[in-house]
Amino acid sequence: MLGGGSTSKESNGLSSGNDNVKIAPADGKLGVLIPGIGAVSTTFIAGVEAIKRGMAVPVGSLTQLATIRLGKRTDNRTPMIKDFVPLAGLDDLVFGGWDIYEDTAYEAAANARVLEAPQLEKLREPLSAIKPMKAVFDQEYVKRINGPNVKEAGSKMDKAEMLLDDIRNFQETNGVSRSVMIWCGSTEVFHRPAAVHQTLKDFECGLMKNDPEIAPSQIYAYAALKSGIPFANGAPNLTTDMPALLELARERNIPVCGKDFKTGQTFMKTLIAPGLKARMLGLSGWFSTNILGNRDGEVLEDPGSFKSKEETKLSVLDAILQPKLHPELYKDFYHAVRINYYPPRGDSKEGWDNIDIFGWLGYPMQIKIDFLCRDSILAAPLVLDLVLFMDLAQRSGMRGIQEWLSFYFKAPMTAPGLYPEHDIFIQLMKLKNTLRWMRGEDLITHLGQEYYD
Ligand SMILES: NC(=O)c1ccc[n+]([C@@H]2O[C@H](COP(=O)([O-])OP(=O)(O)OC[C@H]3O[C@@H](n4cnc5c(N)ncnc54)[C@H](O)[C@@H]3O)[C@@H](O)[C@H]2O)c1
Repeated sequence: MLGGGSTSKESNGLSSGNDNVKIAPADGKLGVLIPGIGAVSTTFIAGVEAIKRGMAVPVGSLTQLATIRLGKRTDNRTPMIKDFVPLAGLDDLVFGGWDIYEDTAYEAAANARVLEAPQLEKLREPLSAIKPMKAVFDQEYVKRINGPNVKEAGSKMDKAEMLLDDIRNFQETNGVSRSVMIWCGSTEVFHRPAAVHQTLKDFECGLMKNDPEIAPSQIYAYAALKSGIPFANGAPNLTTDMPALLELARERNIPVCGKDFKTGQTFMKTLIAPGLKARMLGLSGWFSTNILGNRDGEVLEDPGSFKSKEETKLSVLDAILQPKLHPELYKDFYHAVRINYYPPRGDSKEGWDNIDIFGWLGYPMQIKIDFLCRDSILAAPLVLDLVLFMDLAQRSGMRGIQEWLSFYFKAPMTAPGLYPEHDIFIQLMKLKNTLRWMRGEDLITHLGQEYYD
């Protein structure tokens, strides 16, 4: 399928049913299960409730606001994405979650201080109704916090079974027909995949033997996949990035994706770096530093958790700039990322970038970025899109790693041996082409020769 050629689809832009994949309808309620009722998840839930009440516009959400071009530029077919593919409606979302603290989503949102008090007050009722279930927690994996709302069970397998019960109860009580799980919990300490992560059999054995290499996030992911629920990972911890859980996802035909929401500084990086590379401008150094005062910032003060974050943040530039292919421009550029916990700022992060570049005849130039962002305000619409797209993937029979959702992540999961695509514009093209492909539309290559024939 090439180049936005002519098409016989209906002129209103909606597909006529010639789908490449069979997509089950989005009937009934969709459960959104969230480990981690903190700043990001409560900002997401509060936002959805505000949008449902007509109090806000879903700014930042591709599923709610973006359009998709179909066919040739002269066809004038640009439906909204949400009209082009059958997504769950916001009124059908039901929220549930786990946390180590007993605070309701209203109290957690008030503590996080992302949203202003008068706005939060208007959403008190739906947010107060969300009471976190007892968490599966292990302080070896998140050092700086501790809370009372945790499961006291024997083995890690016992805890997985308790999560399976939680999920079943949530689904029955709320009458949901499908669910998606998305990890919005704290960043866990950096671990590499170990022997216990190699096969599903090893992993299940490890759960029974309480293997210390199994992280809490992996127990949630295991419970989700066992329950037939797609799993997305918003944090940089490994979680499903290992053979055992990928085996389970493929065996059960369940989509997974991750990892680490692409917001703030890395979002900026993936906007700027492709531009430098496109113009073949050189890079000698990129220094990034942040101040951040929310609980996430506090957890990242721990070197083990920071290591997880650093790994995902540092991988981006190499993948975009490809120093092996362009040693004269990108060999040995200096790249450092720092995160400093600075309580006065709360969730209102400030990220500075100093970028040393060079141009024609090697003359040096500098770019300075000072991004005064709001972490959770940037992350919340990504949570919404991921929930809706993961549910779509599940209803479309897509299983295993969903690389087309790389757009949302700092360290996108890919098939073994495949390098990830970090350029945000390529990621967006990939996402939209996947939607076109699902609905049997021509892929758009931007060739456009036919306009000049
Ligand atoms: N905000 C962003 O822009 C952004 C971007 C990328 C990634 N992230 C990641 O998203 C995650 C959430 O960020 P946040 O700002 O909401 O953090 P937060 O600290 O406000 O919320 C995380 C919550 O997870 C809970 N938690 C920790 N371990 C748990 C467990 N085992 N089970 C259940 N709950 C657990 C904590 O008690 C806390 O309430 C973090 O890992 C962060 O690194 C955020």
